[in-house]
Amino acid sequence: MTISAQAKALADRIRSASRAAALSGAGMSVESGLPTFRSGSRALWRNHDPMTLATPDAFARDPVLVWEWYRERLRAHGSAQPNPGHLALAELERRIATFTLITQNVDGLHLRAGSRDVIELHGDVRTSRCIRCGERVETPLAGEVPPRCACGGLLRPNVVWFGEALPAGAYERAYEAVAQSHVFIVAGTSAIVFPAAGLVEVARAAGAFVVEVNPDETPATSRCDVSVRAPSGEFLPLVVQHL
Ligand code: OAD
Repeated sequence: MTISAQAKALADRIRSASRAAALSGAGMSVESGLPTFRSGSRALWRNHDPMTLATPDAFARDPVLVWEWYRERLRAHGSAQPNPGHLALAELERRIATFTLITQNVDGLHLRAGSRDVIELHGDVRTSRCIRCGERVETPLAGEVPPRCACGGLLRPNVVWFGEALPAGAYERAYEAVAQSHVFIVAGTSAIVFPAAGLVEVARAAGAFVVEVNPDETPATSRCDVSVRAPSGEFLPLVVQHL
């Protein structure tokens, strides 16, 4: 089947679905110029050890190093623009009665593309919180590193690090949305980080039509009804065109 025929088939499914959901990962933002964690030569976890940058221990050991890295990423996010894949998912939300977008991305590009019902499973870097009093603030883009809260405590990026729990209620809301969906799109994720990856099973158990959009095979591939081997920025706009 051609990519266009796969897009038409998915559009047909979507037309008769009143509830749908999507799970996105770093691959969604590749066409915005951002690197993924595990694929390609610019992959973040190929070039940096996550244990030195994305754990509570790493932050306790060297908050300056951790902050410099997040500031760099925040700057990259700021200069990136939503790509046609992000825009297509925002359009799907307007066309489907209930459409929930669950993202593992912390770059905010789905929101900037116009998606509104978004669950940011791994938090976001636009905000930070104080490790002493819990106060949340917009992440300061410049100034002292590590930045401090008005109470004097250290601020940390409001993201989920290895070994940490997801934001309160986020997984439960995602589970609920997926369990009620007729169509579930899994785009741009290696599907190896849990509990996000487990949502594929939730969708299957609920009888949803599960479509993966990824140029490469993943552990989720065999659990999906269809795997589309194309970039999300190419395939998702085609689906919208066929609606
Ligand atoms: P990964 O880097 O693990 O996977 C990115 C996936 O995107 C790969 O399977 C690529 O094949 C695919 N990909 C590349 N280009 C694409 C394109 N143009 N269109 C569609 N897919 C494309 O990123 P995630 O799955 O998001 O967690 O990683 C999951 C979590 O692992 C992240 O949220 C982060 C990381 O550790 C935390 O920081 C908690």
